[in-house]
Amino acid sequence: MRLENKVAIITGGGTGIGKETALLFAKEGAKVVITDINQESGSQAVKDIQTNGGEALFVHHDVNKEDDWKKVSEETIKTFGKVDVLFNNAGIYIIKPVAEIELEEWNRLMSINVTGVFLGMKHIMPLMAKQNKGSVINASSIAGLIGSPGHVLYGASKGAVRIMTKDAAMEYASVGVRVNSIHPGYIDTGMADYASQVTGNSKEQLGKNLFPLGHLGSVKDVANTVLFLASDESAYSTGAEFVIDGGATAR
Ligand SMILES: NC(=O)c1ccc[n+]([C@@H]2O[C@H](COP(=O)([O-])OP(=O)(O)OC[C@H]3O[C@@H](n4cnc5c(N)ncnc54)[C@H](O)[C@@H]3O)[C@@H](O)[C@H]2O)c1
Repeated sequence: MRLENKVAIITGGGTGIGKETALLFAKEGAKVVITDINQESGSQAVKDIQTNGGEALFVHHDVNKEDDWKKVSEETIKTFGKVDVLFNNAGIYIIKPVAEIELEEWNRLMSINVTGVFLGMKHIMPLMAKQNKGSVINASSIAGLIGSPGHVLYGASKGAVRIMTKDAAMEYASVGVRVNSIHPGYIDTGMADYASQVTGNSKEQLGKNLFPLGHLGSVKDVANTVLFLASDESAYSTGAEFVIDGGATAR
């Protein structure tokens, strides 16, 4: 059990990468708090964990609302007594040329992908500091590392998450709280379906054209990296970038 006695909060845990990570965390012994803006999928993810004999709690949560974060931290402490791991996973994806992005779209995406991560760190890291231990994993992307057409907005948000991770890691290193970012390439979730629609390329084509390993990543590929970062196996890593991209950024 690689996460025995640990309590983990996963935002956007109702589908995709978040759900797969929640199931894996529970299998490895963690008590999991799944938050999501989607009540139905979030509750279903909790049921799936419980059916497999794990412990989990769903909290309805919009990551860019500060009051919702207060509710998440209170419910977590009330139910499980502490918090050891925060996976700031919730995010949205928009591909659009810079000249076509509406200001409203810009503000909405930034409020979820950037403000959501800020509020998560603001409300949860002090709880971890009290116990002199904790691990925060922030979902960035290869779009936070390299440029590509149509990615000014999404890339800005993921670039911000990359550097916020390093800044928070420096603030909290002396109290034993680690903060790392993950940088997936295209992973086979609704986001890859969306990219396929927008670009007019099948997911097979995207995999072959963009990734040296020749295919898209799976949610399992990402969940395994997040598990490592959540566990004590990564005890000497903080402020670091973990790339899961089939070799794309090595070109
Ligand atoms: N799939 C990819 O190709 C890929 C690549 C790089 C990075 N990422 C990042 O990984 C993370 C997860 O992506 P995914 O592919 O699993 O996406 P997904 O769309 O399958 O899941 C995202 C989840 O976040 C929830 N969510 C959306 N807005 C929210 C809000 N305001 N508050 C709370 N929850 C909210 C959704 O309901 C959904 O359950 C995102 O941050 C994404 O940017 C994904």
